Amino acid sequence: MIRMNLALSVLSRLPVTLSGVELTKRGRAMAQLALTSCNLFDSSADRVTVHFINRDGERLTATAKEGESLLEVVVNQNLSIDGFGACEGTLACSTCHLIFEEDVFQKLDAITDEELDMLDLAYGLTDTSRLGCQVCVKKAMDGLTVQVPAEVADMRRELEVGKQSK
Ligand code: FES
Repeated sequence: MIRMNLALSVLSRLPVTLSGVELTKRGRAMAQLALTSCNLFDSSADRVTVHFINRDGERLTATAKEGESLLEVVVNQNLSIDGFGACEGTLACSTCHLIFEEDVFQKLDAITDEELDMLDLAYGLTDTSRLGCQVCVKKAMDGLTVQVPAEVADMRRELEVGKQSK
C-alpha cells in the first residue's frame, strides 16, 4: 500500500513527456514506479534483519523484505521514529536521513543528484549519510545497523516558514 501511496504522491514531480512522448496519468504512475521501486519480489527467504539506533539511542530491530526501502521498513514495521519519512519518499523533506557504517555505505547503490540536493539540507550530515527512502534493502545487508540523527529537519516546513516570514 505504501508503494502505491508513494507512487501517487510523486506524480507531480514527473516530467510531462518521456522521450518526447506524451504520457497518460496512469502511464506516468507506472513510469515513476519503475524509476523508484527497489524490487517488488517478496519471499520469506529474502528477509533481512535491520537495526535502527533511534534519536534517543534506543535500538529498534526490524525484519525487512529484500527490495524494500528503509523508509518502507520503518513504516511497514511501525517503528517509532519521530518525524521520519514526512514526505513519504518523494524527496521533499530529508526527515528520512540515516547514517551508515562506513563499510556498508561504500556498498550502497550510487546516489542521485536529487537525493544529494535534499541530503545537503539535512541536519547532522556526515560523510556516510543517505536518505532512507532512497536506499533499498539487500540480502547482503542482513544485520545492518543505521543511526537515526538526533535532530531532524523537515525541509517542507522550513520552506513554509521562510515564505511566511517574507
Ligand atoms: S521521506 Fe522525505 S526525503 Fe525521504
